[in-house]
Amino acid sequence: MSKFLTPLFGFAIFVSTAAAQDAAKGKEVFEQCGVCHNADSDEKKMGPGLKGLMKKPTLADGKTKVTDASVMKKVDEGGNGMPAYAEMLDKKEKANLLAYLKTL
Ligand code: HEC
Repeated sequence: MSKFLTPLFGFAIFVSTAAAQDAAKGKEVFEQCGVCHNADSDEKKMGPGLKGLMKKPTLADGKTKVTDASVMKKVDEGGNGMPAYAEMLDKKEKANLLAYLKTL
């Protein structure tokens, strides 16, 4: 029995620490966003505060549904004072960033 369970537990631990690391790395990526965005409140700085962003029904425009895709589109394309990050962040950094945004 233990021969069977040990690899399973090993895998579960591996998966959970990998996810935690992603959000931690995403927090480092977010340092460049923090100039314009609060992460710990929804109070506006240069851009809207991002606390609870992924739990909101819509973006600050009140129209665009909050999804992984719509948030990453805003990050990629920017606009209205928000820089475009499509070329500035790689795929991995964006995935980590999204994991971090989900913790806010
Ligand atoms: C120079 C200031 C600035 C920086 C740096 C910046 N943003 Fe923004 N951001 C803005 C502004 C201004 C808006 C509002 C744009 C609009 O109304 O269309 C915005 C909008 C957003 C939105 C949409 C929020 C909503 O509720 O509508 C998200 C998500 C976002 N930014 C994420 C980020 C992330 C992630 C980073 C870092 C990779 C970042 N921003 C860096 C200024 C900035």
